[in-house]
Amino acid sequence: MSIYCSYPVSRFRRLRQHSGVRRLVADVSVSVDDLIYPVFIVSGSGIASDIPSMPGQKQVSLDRLPELLHEISGLGVSAIMLFGVPESKDPDGSCSWQDDGLIQKACHVVRNTTPEILCIVDVCFCEYTDHGHCGVLYENSQGNLDVDNDATLQLLAKQALSLVKAGAQMIAPSGMLDGMVKTLRTALDDHGFQDIPIMSYSVKYASKLYGPFRDAAQGSPQFGDRSTYQMNPANTKMALREARSDVAEGADIIMVKPAGYYLDIVKSVRNDLPSIPMAAYQVSGEYSMIKAAGQAGWIDEQAMMVESLVAIKRAGADCIITYFALDMARYLKSV
Ligand code: PBG
Ligand code: ZN
Repeated sequence: MSIYCSYPVSRFRRLRQHSGVRRLVADVSVSVDDLIYPVFIVSGSGIASDIPSMPGQKQVSLDRLPELLHEISGLGVSAIMLFGVPESKDPDGSCSWQDDGLIQKACHVVRNTTPEILCIVDVCFCEYTDHGHCGVLYENSQGNLDVDNDATLQLLAKQALSLVKAGAQMIAPSGMLDGMVKTLRTALDDHGFQDIPIMSYSVKYASKLYGPFRDAAQGSPQFGDRSTYQMNPANTKMALREARSDVAEGADIIMVKPAGYYLDIVKSVRNDLPSIPMAAYQVSGEYSMIKAAGQAGWIDEQAMMVESLVAIKRAGADCIITYFALDMARYLKSV
């Protein structure tokens, strides 16, 4: 016989009638401690310009960065992830590993202005190469120009080392190259940075949901797409292999991206690797769709923001990279 009683002794609605009871029995929550806020840095000065495809988000120049950092800190958000929008680009993305490069300078600004904020940096080449791909190119066995995996790994290590020397406190490689985590872990360890954690974009799908971001970071591929390195949305099993191999290579935190349309993947990676910290990236398209529908009056933007973030936590993410981080922090303060 079941240990559970049934109706009419059992009435589930008893647990839903009072908001205090609902709160007591809730088993998922989103806290400001779970949130990572992406920040776009542009070269130049005096710039804090709106990103049209991502309402509420800005590109900021280094001199305007401190005011944004104080706002972030004031809201209690304790981690940011930096993206660079540099002026000059070349086929190798060489400006990404200059010790006086844009993001290197941004790291100094973060460390000096708001030492309480954790400075995470996205490590990739698409924002720095003139062709917009996530590494250097070669002609692949199909006769097409493609990202040269192993040649790019060496350059990624240069980029990452220069960033941690500049003050980056965590690196987040996002290029979906094979051996990316192993190469970076080795490079960091060889240079005395064994304490710098790696948050790997382990399971990153080739998604159209990155469209608004590519406006923001000006890193669209100038030809082709990213389907030879990012994952096919129709593949679930590969997600577990990618996540496991990143853990084996030394990833401290793994990531699934996008988040909201890929909650099945978030959940299965969580179940497969129950003890590994996992982030999920609520990407630009997820953000902009909620914003747009909210602005049109078709959806309750704030409630939808909360629901979308609760859903990502419910699927098993420990932390969320989201453009809603500041809005959510404001909301959490208000309730
Ligand atoms: C760079 C990178 C991208 C995003 C994060 N890092 C773009 C891409 O892979 O094309 C997307 C983030 C977003 O859409 O919010 N590799
Ligand atoms: Zn990239």
